[in-house]
Amino acid sequence: MSGMIAILDYGSQYNQLIARRVRECRVYCEILPHDISPAELAGKGVKGIILSGGPASIFDRGVPKAHAGIFKMEVPILGICYGMQLMAHALGGRVTASEFREYGRAELKLSPQGEKSLLFSGLTGNQRIWMSHGDKVTRLPRGFSAVGETDNCPVAAMENRARRFYAVQFHPEVTHTLNGAVMLRNFLFQIAGCRPDWTMGSFIEENVRKIKEQIGEERVLCALSGGVDSSVLAILLHRAIGKRLVSLFVDNGLLRKGEPGEVVATFRDSFHLNFRMINARQRFLGRLRNVTDPEKKRKIIGHEFIRIFEEEARKLGKIRFLAQGTLYPDVIESKSSFGGPSAIIKSHHNVGGLPERLNMELVEPLRVLFKDEVRELGRELGVPESIVGRHPFPGPGLAVRILGRVTRRNIEIVQQADAIVRDEISDAGLFDEVWQDFAVLLPVRSVGVMGDGRTYENVIAVRAVTSTDGMTADWAKLPHEVLEKISSRIVNEVKGVNRVVYDISTKPPSTIEWE
Ligand code: XMP
Repeated sequence: MSGMIAILDYGSQYNQLIARRVRECRVYCEILPHDISPAELAGKGVKGIILSGGPASIFDRGVPKAHAGIFKMEVPILGICYGMQLMAHALGGRVTASEFREYGRAELKLSPQGEKSLLFSGLTGNQRIWMSHGDKVTRLPRGFSAVGETDNCPVAAMENRARRFYAVQFHPEVTHTLNGAVMLRNFLFQIAGCRPDWTMGSFIEENVRKIKEQIGEERVLCALSGGVDSSVLAILLHRAIGKRLVSLFVDNGLLRKGEPGEVVATFRDSFHLNFRMINARQRFLGRLRNVTDPEKKRKIIGHEFIRIFEEEARKLGKIRFLAQGTLYPDVIESKSSFGGPSAIIKSHHNVGGLPERLNMELVEPLRVLFKDEVRELGRELGVPESIVGRHPFPGPGLAVRILGRVTRRNIEIVQQADAIVRDEISDAGLFDEVWQDFAVLLPVRSVGVMGDGRTYENVIAVRAVTSTDGMTADWAKLPHEVLEKISSRIVNEVKGVNRVVYDISTKPPSTIEWE
């Protein structure tokens, strides 16, 4: 890897998007604390720095500033929005507060010098951009030229070509800035001299080496759930340390039909992992007996998992390391110093407190990756598509898709119905169109007629949603023929069900899961 780009975090909601755009250019980057020292940056081998946007006004007290030394590092810098104001302010320009926020689309007019600017290389004429700011730069710092303006903002872009400092008042990282990707590419390749060599192949090579270094001759324990993250994590660790990785797969009896078998076939039989499956179906079922409250179900399942994991870990003797599939968004969220709802990690992302309880050190090689990069890594490592391409599945499994009491019979019903939903949606070629698709067993009975007889049986709700991140979701507009087939198959094939309904609620106000 030929150096990295540091994105200094001033709290913009778009920071992760900047990181995505940089990585899409195959350049490695990290989002780092806004006041990181030049020495630390130099230690990371930075080739360029991006000062992010942020909600602060340079005039407020106690707002995040950059370490003055970063402007003396002789490293190219791109300031975005608040990052531009910060740069102007730090280098002796003037920023003027404005009562009006400019928000939305604007036209950037490049000056004649702007047309020759490396940042706008390959672009001519007016540029459609996206603005979101209040304050603006009204006097340039020494050595800078204005290279673009909008109707409301005389300095919408500025540069000091000799020092390789560039700044824009708008957001090149959002798609509403039509040529934003070109501008970012120009900064990375033409200005900072990066090379597009951040690939999954190079990631594997480098991380296998790092894992070997960290682990030495010790052993690592890993909780394998069969989900995307833990699967890719296990295969990567296995590549580095082979049988010294011990993978524990706890079958809680709440997985989808056929899933435990698939996990065993993949990890034990095909990848030959040092793999232990613990059949804990009975234990979970026992603990869940007569429990109907959703949060209670979650707590019981979480605690029972930890208990089993601890018991098994003890049986294995002293193991020094525990592997966890922490991803980059979790790391950024937990580190962000700007509060807000995104600062709280969902508790179910962590295997609640395990490392402390077991007195183990953590190994987290995926902590620099985004979800789709984990998928790409999995593919590169040869993890089957049926695992890498999986839809999200909740930790508490089918327990939160059986409303009311979780019994062996109810699990069977929901597993069968769920398998039909998934089959039919996949057969119709709609797997990639939906974010999640599943069956929910409702705690009501309804009257039906079958043959000559009256029935009084269960209702299955089918849920299929589209979403980009699970935070908001819309119900999937599945073709009627697909719904028809799902319904008739469930009623005909799943004993004990005589009615199927389709959930047409959005999130919010509903949630994706019913519990
Ligand atoms: P909701 O139902 O809150 O779900 O709209 C959003 C996303 O989170 C998943 N989900 C969970 N995942 N443990 C998990 O690991 C849980 O307790 C849990 N509850 C919901 C859900 O499947 C969806 O992808």
